[in-house]
Amino acid sequence: MIICSAPGKVYLFGEHAVVYGEPAICCAVDIRTRVSVAPADSITISSSLGTTGIDFETHPYVSAVVERFQDISSLEGVSISIESEIPVGSGLGSSAAVTIATIKALDALLGTDLELDDVARTGHEVEQRIQGAASQTDTYVCTMGGVVMIPQRKGLDLIDCGIVIGNTNIFSSTKELVANVAELNESFPDVIGPVLSSIGKMSVTGEELVNAKDYVSVGKLMNINQGLLDAIGVGCSELSSFTYAARNSGAYGAKITGAGGGGCMVAIAPHERVDGVAAAIAIAGGEVVVTKATDIGVRVE
Ligand code: PMV
Repeated sequence: MIICSAPGKVYLFGEHAVVYGEPAICCAVDIRTRVSVAPADSITISSSLGTTGIDFETHPYVSAVVERFQDISSLEGVSISIESEIPVGSGLGSSAAVTIATIKALDALLGTDLELDDVARTGHEVEQRIQGAASQTDTYVCTMGGVVMIPQRKGLDLIDCGIVIGNTNIFSSTKELVANVAELNESFPDVIGPVLSSIGKMSVTGEELVNAKDYVSVGKLMNINQGLLDAIGVGCSELSSFTYAARNSGAYGAKITGAGGGGCMVAIAPHERVDGVAAAIAIAGGEVVVTKATDIGVRVE
């Protein structure tokens, strides 16, 4: 049996603006999806959602990966089992993590010898097939790990502070939120254009601050980024309440991560403040995940 795991991710800066070609900074986080594969006579896929064969309703990403390997190898049967610490559909990259971990596991089992770039590219193609459109961000960061500037794919220093995620458990559609921002941008191009380019400038300044380990300033910039995300209409009252709770209990900074409208926020905090920040977000009604940055991308366990 082979076990592979892949991490989730948060955005430190730049979601939405990245859709308009601005830079963003993403960070792989130490919550992982584990995929075990073993030779078998037929194809079975097991997860907390149940056990299926190739099934695009229940296990769309894993099914698409299996079909991909059937095209490039002589795969007839395999038993695949999935366990995940990454909340599903909350902007933390759960679909990329299961896709990438499955690709790496089947690669190891079948000896197809994919380079990491091939793993990331195949993962992106699978996400595009299942979602219709997908940016390369999640699959790339999840494959490589670490802190990455997008679209340059430049690796930054790993951030050495606490990361606290607050999940609203409110479903939000990335596609809808991206469309809302596009509509706002069409209605008020002279107003929204500069907001998006300011967000991009935060990623550029953020790059230097991350590498200088100046987390006080990184946090201040995250707070400004949050204000601009609110300005383009992707906030909600729960996300605001969790970000204020985090800041008021000693976080360096806090903002939405991902598409917004629900989903998750992320705070960075000094290690000794993590428990207080986590408690404050929980009191405000968030489901809390305490984690840290990881430079471990996809790997065989
Ligand atoms: O919520 P997520 O993790 O799917 O992130 C969406 C990020 C956007 O910038 C809003 C869209 C994108 O494809 O980059």
